[in-house]
Amino acid sequence: MASRIAQIRLVSSHPEVYEPCDDSFALVDALLADRTNLLQHQPALCLELGCGSGYVITSLALIVGQEAQYIATDINPHAVKVTHETLEAHGVHAELINTNIASGLEKRLKGLVDVIVVNPPYVPTPEDEVGREGIASAWAGGENGRTVIDKMLPVADTLLSKKGWLYMVTLTENNPSQICLQMREKGYASRILVQRLTEEENLQIIKFWRDSDSQVVEKETKQCQFLQRTWSLCSLSSIYSRF
Ligand SMILES: C[S@@+](CC[C@H](N)C(=O)[O-])C[C@H]1O[C@@H](n2cnc3c(N)ncnc32)[C@H](O)[C@@H]1O
Repeated sequence: MASRIAQIRLVSSHPEVYEPCDDSFALVDALLADRTNLLQHQPALCLELGCGSGYVITSLALIVGQEAQYIATDINPHAVKVTHETLEAHGVHAELINTNIASGLEKRLKGLVDVIVVNPPYVPTPEDEVGREGIASAWAGGENGRTVIDKMLPVADTLLSKKGWLYMVTLTENNPSQICLQMREKGYASRILVQRLTEEENLQIIKFWRDSDSQVVEKETKQCQFLQRTWSLCSLSSIYSRF
């Protein structure tokens, strides 16, 4: 059965709010591509970090259904208002919070979120452009476009439930393979669901999920690091003991 997603003509707008673009469409395409898994997953609580116009959270609510509960945050107060209008125009509901990432929600949501979606500000920019008011906050990502991403990932790790999934947009300049390795050390497996080459950008939509094998790999890596360190110390002490 074809899934309904948000309709562009019903998506509200504001001059200071990011309009759905190639990255937003790629993220929703990834959700559609993973629809069967999402429905089997039966998420109880879904969260979007940085909801902008509301195109993604509305599409997610239409794909998964209103049995789940939805929360969306944005640092830009205009985005929260626009998202409210977009949701309403599609007859779906989400709790909307104007906050920095998920500040103030950690206690309430810790370990409870089954699906997180995020299309972060990923464009490499000078560091002082990050976190500026209004539309600039939509793209300004600081060095390698990683400043906000690197703050969002630990928050996602805290909020995700044991069966939690994270869908995130990255740009090649963000070094997505390093992001995957970092997440692997925290026990997540990952897969690129959608790759999109536009005129200006090479985008990936990556899905992360907790994976016991990744934790085994992490333990083994740590053991190796420990052994390497021990070996180095032993080697050093044997060198020093010669003098
Ligand atoms: C690239 S736009 C994506 C908007 C929308 N999710 C979409 O895909 O069309 C990034 C969004 O993240 C928001 N944002 C940037 N920094 C944030 C932060 N620290 N906390 C919450 N939202 C943030 C911006 O205001 C903007 O709406």
